[in-house]
Amino acid sequence: MNGKKYIIGNWKSNKILSDVRSWFTKFNSLYKSDNKISLDNLEIVICPPFIYLPEADNLIKKFNLPISLGVQDISPFPQGAYTGEVGASQIADFAKFVLVGHSERRSNFGETDKLLFAKVDQADKNGLQVVYCVADNQTLIPQSVTMVAYEPVWAIGTGKTESGENAGKVADSIRGNLKTLKIIYGGSVNSKNITDFLTGNRLDGVLPGGASLDAGSFWEMIVNASRI
Ligand code: 13P
Repeated sequence: MNGKKYIIGNWKSNKILSDVRSWFTKFNSLYKSDNKISLDNLEIVICPPFIYLPEADNLIKKFNLPISLGVQDISPFPQGAYTGEVGASQIADFAKFVLVGHSERRSNFGETDKLLFAKVDQADKNGLQVVYCVADNQTLIPQSVTMVAYEPVWAIGTGKTESGENAGKVADSIRGNLKTLKIIYGGSVNSKNITDFLTGNRLDGVLPGGASLDAGSFWEMIVNASRI
């Protein structure tokens, strides 16, 4: 757990194209104007809606930003006759990470363990790093998963958070004997509370939603995390 800390911004179904361009332009100017910051201990990831992956990829390359891309979902099928789906091989052209089993997908789209396991299988076959989202320490986790996001439903978008201490305890119980399993926390993470989650080495990172939507507040989280 002494490796890099992950800061994974989940934009959910937010932003239109012009917002995406403004976000990266603002992030770039914040990043370029701070020449003292060291990001060596961080892995920074943004998960935009699928449709903005190519544009986000172009902007990251154009500005040479230390950001990797992730997606918020993945098809449980390979590419083919599955109308409306985006397959792992298509995602792999742009993104390294994929969120699977977010509570908003479980509750709004009825995603079951069986479906989620098929999604993980597709991600694995195409070399994508799965971030498997669970609401508690009782949720089934596919065996191949190496990174879990603990996101208590009551903390998502509510401004209420677990304490770093409690999140660390839940992380330990999810990890059990699997010492190498990375666990990140999500649920109302912001620039003020991020330090609480990242100190003490029980968590490997955070998964902010709302606080990742503004490049300024996302940058503040990065700055605070870089000082730990
Ligand atoms: P908020 O940070 O807006 O609570 O969202 C958390 C989340 O669901 C990230 O996946």
